[in-house]
Amino acid sequence: AESLPTSVEALTLQSTASTSKFPGCFPTLNPVDIYREHISEELGKVADVDPAIIYTRLQWTNTLDKGDLTLAVPSLQIKKKNPMELCKELADKFPDSDLVHKPTASGPQLQFFFKGKPLIQTVLSRVLAEKAAYGTNGNQGLKDPSDPSKGKKKIIIEFSSPNIAKPFHAGHLRSTIIGGFLANLYTVMGWDVIKMNYLGDWGKQYGLLANGFEYFGNEEALQKDPINHLFDVYVKVNKIVKDQEEPINELKKQIKEKKEKSEDVSALEAELAKLVDVSEDEKARRYFKSMEDQDPSALALWRRFRDLSIAKYKQTYARLNIDFDVYSGESQVKAESMTNAYKSMKEAGVAEDSEGAVIADFTKHGAKKLGKAIIIRKDGTPLYLTRDIGAITERDDTYHFDKMIYVVASQQDLHLAQLFKITELSGHKDLASRCQHINFGMVHGMSTRKGTVKFLDDILHDVGDKMHEVMKKNDAKYAQVENPVQTADTLGITAVMVQDMTGKRINGYTFNLEAMTSFEGDTGPYLQYAHARLCSMTRKSELNVDELPSANFDLLTEQHATDLCRLLAQWPDVLLNTAKTQEPVTVLSYLFRMTHMLSSSYDVLKVIGSEPETKKARMALYAAARQVLNNGMRILGIEPGAAY
Ligand code: ARG
Repeated sequence: AESLPTSVEALTLQSTASTSKFPGCFPTLNPVDIYREHISEELGKVADVDPAIIYTRLQWTNTLDKGDLTLAVPSLQIKKKNPMELCKELADKFPDSDLVHKPTASGPQLQFFFKGKPLIQTVLSRVLAEKAAYGTNGNQGLKDPSDPSKGKKKIIIEFSSPNIAKPFHAGHLRSTIIGGFLANLYTVMGWDVIKMNYLGDWGKQYGLLANGFEYFGNEEALQKDPINHLFDVYVKVNKIVKDQEEPINELKKQIKEKKEKSEDVSALEAELAKLVDVSEDEKARRYFKSMEDQDPSALALWRRFRDLSIAKYKQTYARLNIDFDVYSGESQVKAESMTNAYKSMKEAGVAEDSEGAVIADFTKHGAKKLGKAIIIRKDGTPLYLTRDIGAITERDDTYHFDKMIYVVASQQDLHLAQLFKITELSGHKDLASRCQHINFGMVHGMSTRKGTVKFLDDILHDVGDKMHEVMKKNDAKYAQVENPVQTADTLGITAVMVQDMTGKRINGYTFNLEAMTSFEGDTGPYLQYAHARLCSMTRKSELNVDELPSANFDLLTEQHATDLCRLLAQWPDVLLNTAKTQEPVTVLSYLFRMTHMLSSSYDVLKVIGSEPETKKARMALYAAARQVLNNGMRILGIEPGAAY
């Protein structure tokens, strides 16, 4: 088994001697940088422009027919010349090269195409040698790229963060998928990554849940399936609250009406007080108060709910290849941190009293859009926002991070903007500047097939079932699968993830079981199939994979082989670009470009039945493609299977 990206040591330059004279250029890590360097120098001479300028103007392309690198000639700002003519002139003057063909002038764009032979040699030998590390660039995560001994930058990625006893909804699913991806990405870029789960594990609802457990709880059921059982209890006790609300609201209405007519309401008020006093909601408030006051037995029950839920979450996260370094949560924020935060807010004039509560009025601080937010309720209790304000400085003190990312749905854009603004205004400008909200759009229609909104586990189970049905449609193939249930499970999880990663994060989408489980189109099952096909080809070739690097690559003369290597050469750049976009789709669409190219190569570059030397060379090519596909899938958090 190959290591997960989290255990991949990213490739890092150990000495400055091998770095290029261009900043950010690492020819020993990124094959395309060899070409950037070469083109910049050669073109610099004929254009009489500083190569360092050319270097920064060279751009990669998304379609191979536009070349491997292009240069917009006007960007060189050579005066007094028509850009089109200049482009032609430069193309003509560009000297013969071992690495690139004569550039093509396309309008004002100079297009460079890499020559096949040396490219194939470089790319294949590197991919086969560097394996899972190919494409990574650990220099990105270094505190000081010129001195690796100074260590790595530290990043906290807070993601998933579900609420105990409430459904794990689509927002949590997306946060989990995107957060897992970001954790992998930063790891292979050489950062020291801390994965944090900030649970919704505190508040009046835990008082409600604890009392509800007394009425409806069942020890056995709790042990067996804590998440579902606690949810059942929560639903039942919530029903009581709802039922009690009706007469209470009715009384309130009557009192209001009588008051307006200046009638006596004392009897009604007494009745209301009685009703409220025995209400479930009030009991929950009192229970939660005892938790806040550190009552040992109240805390013990709450802790058990929390621990059991975490144990169960861990199992589910494992199915998604995710584990957390820290299970924090709203309950873990120290009262002291909140008090300190409140003090510095007061000092900075951000917090003000308003009708017994404390608020922050952003409109007075040049942030009209952020409105006002309550910081401390009238009864003195803190809120969701207050805990985040306490937590942000606590985390900074504990971890001394260089960057922190919150992966939270765009519904909470305002919340996080308020959090960062308060942080900034209350004397932590630098801390605020190190924090980032990574947001995403809504998923519609995520429910189980029975139509009920449930937990992640149930969703994954359902998709696995559906996947199993789809697999059964192909009898011959199905018969060959050793462990169909497990395979269906892996494929199902991939299906969910790929559907989620198909668009930009900010776009919402509709959860579509039918579409995501199809083997046709750019789906998860298709991606797995593409990888599995390469695995099976390797098996059937009966070649020793360790010997593939010694193949004679000169036998790969077909354009298809060159094109595949051109694509493989792009992977390090794709990763670098992904670090900029922070979008899973940047990786995913690259992987699908590769699967398409692979499927059009199989007929041209046959392995089985070819001459032994050709067979070996072609197998090396496919092995390299499989490796890069594998690397990409792992960054996305997808476990590449070999079976289907
Ligand atoms: N538990 C929250 C929810 O489900 C998400 C927490 C997001 N993170 C944070 N630091 N506020 O809505």
